[in-house]
Amino acid sequence: MGRAGGRGLGRMVHGADATVPDVIEIRSAHPVERADLDAIRTLHDTAALADGHEALGSSVWRDLETGGRPGSVGGFAFEGAQLVGYAHVTPSDNFSPPHWAAGIVVAPTRRGDSVATALLDGIVEHVRRTEPGEIVLWILGPTDADDQHAAASGFEPSRDLLQMRVALPLDVVAREPDGITVRRFLPGTDEAAWLAVNNRAFRNHPEQGGWIASTLAHRMAEPWFDPDGFLLAWSTDPAGLAGFCWTKIHQPGSDDAGLGEIFVVGVDPTHQGTGLGRKLTVAGLGSLAARGVRVGMLYVDGANTAAVGLYRALGFTVHRRDRAYQREVR
Ligand SMILES: CC(C)(COP(=O)(O)OP(=O)(O)OC[C@H]1O[C@@H](n2cnc3c(N)ncnc32)[C@H](O)[C@@H]1OP(=O)(O)O)[C@@H](O)C(=O)NCCC(=O)NCCS
Repeated sequence: MGRAGGRGLGRMVHGADATVPDVIEIRSAHPVERADLDAIRTLHDTAALADGHEALGSSVWRDLETGGRPGSVGGFAFEGAQLVGYAHVTPSDNFSPPHWAAGIVVAPTRRGDSVATALLDGIVEHVRRTEPGEIVLWILGPTDADDQHAAASGFEPSRDLLQMRVALPLDVVAREPDGITVRRFLPGTDEAAWLAVNNRAFRNHPEQGGWIASTLAHRMAEPWFDPDGFLLAWSTDPAGLAGFCWTKIHQPGSDDAGLGEIFVVGVDPTHQGTGLGRKLTVAGLGSLAARGVRVGMLYVDGANTAAVGLYRALGFTVHRRDRAYQREVR
């Protein structure tokens, strides 16, 4: 049985509308302890089996497995000893713009019982007490009911993220733009050039824009990082880095084990529309296929017409749609 709530943080406060059945007890904890983590994994597996996809994203798991950043909290819904719902909220791990990131999973048997709303109201209350600001809640593969639960706790849909997939190897040849040379990323040498181009390509992007050296170092320290799958396109005119394609092979043990991701692809605004994005994406997929990957995948903002157009033209189709909801807490 989990020990959530045993560390003196007390019950989560929840709104008057979120009346859960008496058999369900809502508690909170920071940090989330090992026994609770196991219960969350079991609940997550049960939900994933019913839904056909995971409920909590990698940033939530990263936070859970590393003990949680200061300020993070887990909200638990227990039915006796059984965990039937879990919500997580944590200060965001990138630095621009700061926000709270949240995720939630509810047992298939307890959906429609206001468990989601009670947990979401709890995290809103936690943010209000800790440091008021914006909460971004991610729901993977949202249903109409998820939209309603989010709305009941004051969250509004803000972005759709598409997970697109394609079979590899790709049967596409991309034209080589003039004056471009592609080579692998050299750790210790290319960081500053990459950060500058990344931040220009993604200047208005909520997660990929505004990276600093430590954001990059953090990603390069992850077990999946492989400079052979991180391609840089250098231009002779004007001289400098023109674009990049960074790939990621999902590690054994993860839900997407064996899939090869275009983790991020970007072209400096001065080189966009010249065929370089297409060239780099094809090269990135080629590097994944060369390392034995048979399914390529990526995440793209549903409103990014240039990128979605490029991926569709290469044969990608939408595998899943995830949705971000926002709520400003004062
Ligand atoms: C998306 C991006 C990588 C595309 O690179 P690019 O060099 O500009 O694109 P290309 O010149 O290679 O064009 C490839 C295809 O993209 C699509 N495309 C490019 N610009 C487009 C636009 N403004 N509107 C619609 N489609 C567009 C087209 O399908 C084009 O195919 P075509 O050759 O049949 O015209 C680049 O625009 C970029 O870096 N954008 C900002 C960062 C970003 O959004 N990255 C992707 C995140 S998932």
